[in-house]
Amino acid sequence: MKKTFPTTDLATLPVGIFDSGLGGLTVYRQIRSLLPSENIVYLGDTARVPYGSKSTDTIRDFATQITRFLLDQPVKAIVIACNTASSLALDIVRSLTDLPVVNVIDPGVQEAVNITQNGHIAVIGTTATIESGAYAARVQAMNPDIQIHGVACPLFVPLVEEGWEDHPVTRQIALEYLDPLVHQNIDTLILGCTHYPILKPALKKILPSYVTIVDSSRVVARTLKEALTYHKALNPLGSPGTDLFYVTDFPRKFKVISSRFLGHEPDHVQKIPIETLNGYSLRKE
Ligand code: DGL
Repeated sequence: MKKTFPTTDLATLPVGIFDSGLGGLTVYRQIRSLLPSENIVYLGDTARVPYGSKSTDTIRDFATQITRFLLDQPVKAIVIACNTASSLALDIVRSLTDLPVVNVIDPGVQEAVNITQNGHIAVIGTTATIESGAYAARVQAMNPDIQIHGVACPLFVPLVEEGWEDHPVTRQIALEYLDPLVHQNIDTLILGCTHYPILKPALKKILPSYVTIVDSSRVVARTLKEALTYHKALNPLGSPGTDLFYVTDFPRKFKVISSRFLGHEPDHVQKIPIETLNGYSLRKE
């Protein structure tokens, strides 16, 4: 069942990144900028997004399918660029391969634990992420004296996709979500969702100046670099790496939404039918 390291030269194989949709492009962007010579295959499950409101079983099944699809490319490492999938399916992804698997939770938690002065950290994310307790468990494991306060902010994803990051409605909703956290005396806020970095300027305006916002995407790229270095799998070629983007659907606002996360429309985008991914489900075996 478990995929072992491919026997071909690991270094030149692509890194596989996946997300429930296009928000993971914020993570891709940091990886591309830190590791310009790496080849990258990104899969955005745009037909089935959002994951954040789905059941644990479904999220684990989708993550399994995508991981097995990426391993078949083959890839040399997997980056789960989705907080919901990282929260609920990291163990299953790891069980499928011996390759390095990077998730978006651990790097953000490590950064937040280093930053906090008063031991009160908050995390915001999708309902599935917050209910999973994954962030709280990681913080507790690193430092049991730190208090972690989680709030699900399900309205943020559609607001970002609508391009309303600067809208008064978003400000009002953000106040509703974040006010209880401010009253808990937090000094550090982890953005536990791929979409939230877009809201950072708006959140900064309503949070007290002493609250540090942690956007883990940069640290995730560094973690990947360390993992590839450790496995002697960094691509040594000096030439720019290639990109291949798979999506399971071209949503109506694909151009606008992908540009919002990436800064431009991605090149080399291919649709992969959902039936193909379903074929990678373990439920069928
Ligand atoms: N990518 C998801 C995450 O980071 C947000 C969108 C969704 O709910 O699928 O949690």
